[in-house]
Amino acid sequence: MASSPSTAPAQPFEPARISTGVPGLDDVLFGGLPSGQMYLIEGDPGTGKTTLAMQFIMEGVRNGESALYITLSEPRSELQASARSHGWDLAHLPIAEFVPAEASLSPEQQYTVFHPSEVELAETVRKLTLLIDERRPQRLAIDSLSELRLLASDMMRYRRQLLALKQFFAGRDTTVLLLDDRSAEGSDRQLQSIAHGVIHLEKVQRSYGATRRHAEIIKLRGSAYREGFHDYTIIRGGLCIYPRLVASEHEAAFPPDKLSSGLPTLDSMFGGGILRGSSALVVGPTGCGKSSICMQYAFAAAQRGERSIVYAFDEGVRIAIDRAHALGMNVQQEIDRGTLAIFQVDPADLSPASSLGASAVTSNSSIPAWSSSTASTAISTPCPASAISPSTCTSCSPISIRRALSPSSP
Ligand SMILES: Nc1ncnc2c1ncn2[C@@H]1O[C@H](COP(=O)(O)OP(=O)(O)OP(=O)(O)O)[C@@H](O)[C@H]1O
Ligand SMILES: [Mg+2]
Repeated sequence: MASSPSTAPAQPFEPARISTGVPGLDDVLFGGLPSGQMYLIEGDPGTGKTTLAMQFIMEGVRNGESALYITLSEPRSELQASARSHGWDLAHLPIAEFVPAEASLSPEQQYTVFHPSEVELAETVRKLTLLIDERRPQRLAIDSLSELRLLASDMMRYRRQLLALKQFFAGRDTTVLLLDDRSAEGSDRQLQSIAHGVIHLEKVQRSYGATRRHAEIIKLRGSAYREGFHDYTIIRGGLCIYPRLVASEHEAAFPPDKLSSGLPTLDSMFGGGILRGSSALVVGPTGCGKSSICMQYAFAAAQRGERSIVYAFDEGVRIAIDRAHALGMNVQQEIDRGTLAIFQVDPADLSPASSLGASAVTSNSSIPAWSSSTASTAISTPCPASAISPSTCTSCSPISIRRALSPSSP
């Protein structure tokens, strides 16, 4: 009897993932870019497209893959200078230059019979494909499409060439990054639809402080990814992406005990201490002791051998240490033995995701709505004036606990 065909369900085809070489990006992509496909990296000038693509190429070289960076815009020397500024080894960055010779940009060299687009675009694409056929890279970056767009006299001709390029890559085991500075008028949706995946980089204008940068995966065909905006920075060493924090992914098991502040009277107000794993908001006017109370908790934990971090937003580390010493807390000793760390951060220069959750949060009396609602406990302390004459101060009361949630309370 003839054997019946197997009824086992067909396994979905999953292309292998390759690492992008950009810290944080593989996490956003759930393991890297599916290999052998064509991706669009789009963003305004200066958003870091070239830097990201160089990191991608160097990661390939480091992994022993053949890789190639084709530059149509910047000369090789400029790219190498940029790589050197990041401290990268140029031996890991194979570059092929397609920058038009200066002579061909001069008016005498302009074509008179044929429109330049008919000659140069076809010629450039032909040379590109010849080179790619010769080198057969597993990773390829083309920087940037705006040069091809300039060579094409109209968008239709340009898109036809891109479709031809996509067909050229089909069946070749090459993962391609196409860089685009969005110089086309309006959003080039057709370009987005041609690519298998689109990574969008953007700078966010703010009225004050350092530029904030966001990356977003617009699409990734046949694959899930971490949706939404992810902060990123460009520092010496390249792009670093901070995947959007999802609280539920960071749950860890810990004992449901109470944390002592080291001050028996304060602990007694919480029935023994603050519940471990909860957050507390310390509220009060300037000078009432918010920072000192927070330092007290951190110091007490450090003394028990638990590790604590203090992020100081509006004062220097030295001042925080000196004040703690004056209050009898030898924080330097705990810092030296690694149980306590104090960082000074400038909120204007910091993106939310690049700072991991602060373990101690203090706030002045003007509390933003979100902070009082997300803190599970709010401690308010009196202003110094009320300590002398509480009746003269109507804005505060002696230390009071406004709300203390425990797992059992609704
Ligand atoms: N060595 C470095 N250290 C820190 N930041 C750097 C360094 N080199 C470049 N940058 C940052 O990266 C930005 C440029 O990145 P990049 O050249 O990758 O952008 P791009 O998107 O390719 O720009 P364009 O569209 O003009 O080609 C600079 O504006 C600067 O903010
Ligand atoms: Mg660039």
